[in-house]
Amino acid sequence: MKRQLPQRHDLAPLMKFKKPVWSGTERRLAAALTIEDLRVIARRRTPRAAFDYTDGAADGEVSLARARQGFADVEFRPDVLRDVSSVDTSREVLGVRSALPFGIAPTGFTRMMQTEGEIAGATAAEDAGIPFALSTMGTTSIEDVAAATPGGRNWFQLYMWKDRERSMALVDRAAAAGYDTLLVTVDVPVAGARLRDVRNGMTIPPMLTARTVANAIPRPAWWFNFLTTEPLAFASLDSWSGTVADLLDTMFDPTVTYDDLEWIKEQWPGKVVVKGVQSVADAARCAEIGVDAVLLSNHGGRQLDRAPVPFHLLPDVVAEVGKEVEVHLDTGIMSGQDVVAAIAHGATFTLIGRAYLYGLMAGGRAGVDRTIEILRGQLERTMRLLGVTSLDDLSPEHVTQLVRLEPRRR
Ligand SMILES: Cc1cc2nc3c(=O)[nH]c(=O)nc-3n(C[C@H](O)[C@H](O)[C@H](O)COP(=O)(O)O)c2cc1C
Repeated sequence: MKRQLPQRHDLAPLMKFKKPVWSGTERRLAAALTIEDLRVIARRRTPRAAFDYTDGAADGEVSLARARQGFADVEFRPDVLRDVSSVDTSREVLGVRSALPFGIAPTGFTRMMQTEGEIAGATAAEDAGIPFALSTMGTTSIEDVAAATPGGRNWFQLYMWKDRERSMALVDRAAAAGYDTLLVTVDVPVAGARLRDVRNGMTIPPMLTARTVANAIPRPAWWFNFLTTEPLAFASLDSWSGTVADLLDTMFDPTVTYDDLEWIKEQWPGKVVVKGVQSVADAARCAEIGVDAVLLSNHGGRQLDRAPVPFHLLPDVVAEVGKEVEVHLDTGIMSGQDVVAAIAHGATFTLIGRAYLYGLMAGGRAGVDRTIEILRGQLERTMRLLGVTSLDDLSPEHVTQLVRLEPRRR
């Protein structure tokens, strides 16, 4: 073989040095290609109790693992030789178009995960043209979220407290602040058994114990932010100091029934979504009452462990009530492919909980932007690879659910 010395003009095109990115956060976020990558960064940067509160689920965490497995166990069936040069990812949800078929799920204690909290989520959602849902247990007030997102679409999530008047006062404030949709969460008659929180002695706000201080040392940015911003408190509730489970059990009303749902529906001027529906029969009952959507969800596996996988329930619910109400879905969504699979099986819309929070913990507002960017990229690419240019073109023919566990025949 004849060798030669490389010439400068041969080397020049091979040497492409990137402009250095000085911000560590920017560099880390740019290197994250998946939501799982963001999760890894989040774990490194967030104190253990706060990370585990977000990442964990109830009991043996089987509901969450199965929900994610349900999405992993799909087989895509692509159409080929279609013009997919442009794709439309938008979707009409409850009367308004969303740029993407997912929105941000309501989550409590969000400023504990990262100090920018709900404002980061709501403003990122506004910029992306998707809805943001604020939790009753939010750490930014109803009015502050509305003021930060003048062009955004905000939804409010309601927990029915034992003190009805206080619950309904929140609903009135949300209506006055322009929130257009009420998510009524129905899967929390009592708090789920979040064992990681018990083991971590998780309290709101986090306590400075010898263990938490030791855990804080490699996470200085989180603590600096935490100690130099407004103290963590529920923005819509009185202050609380104690464990999360105690708080939930003190506040939640285990007597809530369908009568209450009908009553709430009468009080609310906008759209009503029932969050946490887990059977065909309950979906049918909600449709009968005349709500606008049912959200199939097991609360991200944080309530009943070994609950039905919402994605598995989806086809039957769509067949039963899909013409009367919109069917939304959450729990287990970690990629744009998961969203595609849900839409193909008839979901009108989906929500992301942890996927958003991992981004938030990894890099505040920029991290939430990165979450949305990653999901959008995966969604568009999957649509193209499946040979579809609009979400309406997706059908169950494109996505086979491979079911590992089948119920024993009665
Ligand atoms: C940290 C955390 C806090 C949550 N807080 C609430 C809440 O206050 N109200 C509510 O209805 N759902 C709450 N959820 C459930 C989410 O709204 C959503 O159903 C769930 O996160 C979806 O699953 P995913 O995390 O796998 O996307 C919470 C979820 C997480 C992870």
